[in-house]
Amino acid sequence: MPTEQGKEQDSSRPAAARVGRRRALLAGGAVLAAGMGAAAGELAAGDRTDGRAGADAPPAAIPFHGARQAGVTAPQQPATHLLSFDLPRTTTATGRKTLRDVLGALTGTLATVTSDAPPDPRLQGGATTRLTSLVGIGPSLAARLGLGVPASLIELPSFPGDRLDPRRSDGDVLVQLCAADRWTLTVAAELVGAAAHAAGAAPRWTQSGFMPRTAPGTTPRNLFGSRDGTANPDRTAAEQWVWYPSGAHRNGTVLVYRRIHMDVAGFAALPEAHRDRAIGRRAHDGAPLSGTAEHDEPDIYAKNPDGSYVIPATAHVRLASPRFDRGARMLRRSYSYDDGPADRGLLFCAFMRDPAQFTRVQNRLSARDALNPFLQHRASAVAYVLPGAPGTATLGEQLWT
Ligand code: HEM
Repeated sequence: MPTEQGKEQDSSRPAAARVGRRRALLAGGAVLAAGMGAAAGELAAGDRTDGRAGADAPPAAIPFHGARQAGVTAPQQPATHLLSFDLPRTTTATGRKTLRDVLGALTGTLATVTSDAPPDPRLQGGATTRLTSLVGIGPSLAARLGLGVPASLIELPSFPGDRLDPRRSDGDVLVQLCAADRWTLTVAAELVGAAAHAAGAAPRWTQSGFMPRTAPGTTPRNLFGSRDGTANPDRTAAEQWVWYPSGAHRNGTVLVYRRIHMDVAGFAALPEAHRDRAIGRRAHDGAPLSGTAEHDEPDIYAKNPDGSYVIPATAHVRLASPRFDRGARMLRRSYSYDDGPADRGLLFCAFMRDPAQFTRVQNRLSARDALNPFLQHRASAVAYVLPGAPGTATLGEQLWT
């Protein structure tokens, strides 16, 4: 397959197209740990005990306390529940006190519900829940209270085609819970919501999501039937693009959340070859159209004998390619949602140091992604995912400096 070398924007082109072997091995470790499929970046980014066990040992709880929040570092769990809260509009001093109270309450509650022995009887007696969590701060609250957050934390711009519902978007404090099952999430969300409310936060929106349990070493599919999360960053790339490396934000990251409605029936009605060209990968094995195996790096310069691109100009993976962003990768841990027959889709959840990266990619996607006729962005949020709380620390201690 002839390729066109040396494009200006390609500052990251690897010498070899096949980059997946190490990623697959890392993913294999995560899969062993979780007993299900997981993307490599999750484990790669981890710096905590993740409950890795031998194949026969029951999985242990995933510790809440650690340098990084387990809701980003632990292998992706099959179910999620997001909760967004607002804080009252008050003076800065009162607002800062309320936020301290809320973060104290969340730290205490999350450390308890994620433990091996949560006191609530509804969380006892079953298999270890492997509940994980993350807590983030919205840009509006950070600006109002003058918090020590990364300068990159700003609201996203609006994009062409956005149909965002403010009642399902944004928020001052965001919590994402992930677990093996919906029951655990429902109970934990109730306890987290009650603790946050008692400390002064008001619920803004909640959203639940799920993904298929997959065989070890395989990538979960989304509702279009595609494997989603294949090209996630490995350990080195995650340190470079996902985590803040030093200073007060060290071990923090930023979550971009988009609730994207998908016209599942409309997409399914397309011929299979058409669907594969819209994505730029084959649905049945996840391989890029330029390659033969799922973890082959998509070669966006590969051309057909007639001069056309093998991965078409409007293919999703071409437009989202890190080659257009000096190699920048985001860690995607998305879930599907089902809020009734007329509203199903993807909870796009991606972690990155700088949300401007999302903006650059989404600007390209919203302009010409072949998936656009089948997608509608209906909600959005950005949050600074706080560094973890090691030892007996409380989340957010770095915010006040
Ligand atoms: C419902 C909407 C979406 C669907 C169905 C979807 C689906 C996919 C699929 C199937 C892949 C290829 C497999 C993989 O690497 O995971 C992919 C890759 C990717 N998507 Fe999406 N995606 C959606 C929205 C978005 C959005 C909103 C963004 C960011 C603005 C995005 C960014 C990416 C990136 C960065 C890649 C990896 C590209 C690469 O490195 O090759 N996606 N997506």
